[in-house]
Amino acid sequence: MDLKQFVTIVEDWPKEGIRFKDITTLMDNGEAYRYATDQIVAYAKEKEIDIVVGPEARGFIIGCPVAYSLGVGFAPVRKEGKLPRETIKVEYGLEYGKDVLTIHKDAIKPGQRVLITDDLLATGGTIEATIKLVEELGGVVAGIAFLIELSYLEGRKNLDGYDVLTLMEY
Ligand code: PRP
Ligand code: MG
Repeated sequence: MDLKQFVTIVEDWPKEGIRFKDITTLMDNGEAYRYATDQIVAYAKEKEIDIVVGPEARGFIIGCPVAYSLGVGFAPVRKEGKLPRETIKVEYGLEYGKDVLTIHKDAIKPGQRVLITDDLLATGGTIEATIKLVEELGGVVAGIAFLIELSYLEGRKNLDGYDVLTLMEY
């Protein structure tokens, strides 16, 4: 299946010059959403994953159905102040300014093999921060899966040494 036909390019959003890749038109097509999920599930099976981790919000959309299909757990990475129990946190850079991502301290057990999921690899900042959280808890990042890679931003350079799957490239 050619997944790109289900992604809608929105010109000049959220600001002029940006060609936004809207995945909601992929998600609201049951066959396409299942197909994309199944590709990542097949990858995760090869990597012998114990748990899936994804950053809010779009990382949940990709990661949760994968975890369900594998029969493993899903651990959310969230913005600061959203998780109720003890967390660890990491600061990461955005285009303008900084943000903080957190994870529950007991979300991952040392040695667990982790699949990280998100919708999009742009600069890689979000996933670098997610990797730091997983590794600080002793998790092993066995694979990282995205729907889309914006290869002209060269985010993959920041994920050197990790196994990365992307289903679509722009
Ligand atoms: C978007 C996207 C990725 C991230 C990619 O998330 O969902 O998580 O940006 O960019 P990067 O590779 O440069 O870090 P966003 O922060 O817009 O939040 P959302 O998922 O909650 O919509
Ligand atoms: Mg995101």
